[in-house]
Amino acid sequence: MLENDIERILVSETEIIKIAKRLGKQITKDYQGKKPVLIGLLKGCLPFLAELIKHIDLYCEIELMGVQSYHGGTESTGNVKITKDLDVSVEGRDVIMVEDIVDTGRTITGVLDLLKYRGATSVEVVTLLDKPEGRVKVLTPKYIGTTIPKEFVVGYGLDYQEFYRNLPYVGILKQQVYKK
Ligand code: PRP
Repeated sequence: MLENDIERILVSETEIIKIAKRLGKQITKDYQGKKPVLIGLLKGCLPFLAELIKHIDLYCEIELMGVQSYHGGTESTGNVKITKDLDVSVEGRDVIMVEDIVDTGRTITGVLDLLKYRGATSVEVVTLLDKPEGRVKVLTPKYIGTTIPKEFVVGYGLDYQEFYRNLPYVGILKQQVYKK
């Protein structure tokens, strides 16, 4: 059903699991002896966060923060809104922000500045997808799953008007779906 709206699969479920294993291993190595806090940015982060943490072998905490920038459309509005703030302090903590996609970079830079302002010792970004052609803010996430072209993608957490997040892969949405 949902797959009828998909032009083609860009990153398969098998590839995503491989990515999560690779990044989880790397994070485990880089944060040896530390107890980082992973902050997932809702809602898109959820499937990737769930897969990634299985491959991190550290005493790490998991927190969630609600941030929105697209407001249902296909392009970021540039208006980053916090819909759910953190329940914990990040002061003196090593923070790893977990994202499904970095596109313009507005969401992540907005939150990054906030967490630094709140006294985090370090803040790094892990993202399943990076879309560098969309960038308007200078930012290179430390941990990147895979780089994708400037296409509107859905699935594995990414939505169009709140749908498609439950697809087990990342795919390009057929233009006819959003150009009605
Ligand atoms: C999406 C995605 C990232 C952000 C990336 O979130 O999950 O957080 O956009 O875009 P940017 O780099 O251009 O800022 P969205 O605001 O759609 O909220 P969602 O996670 O609830 O889907």
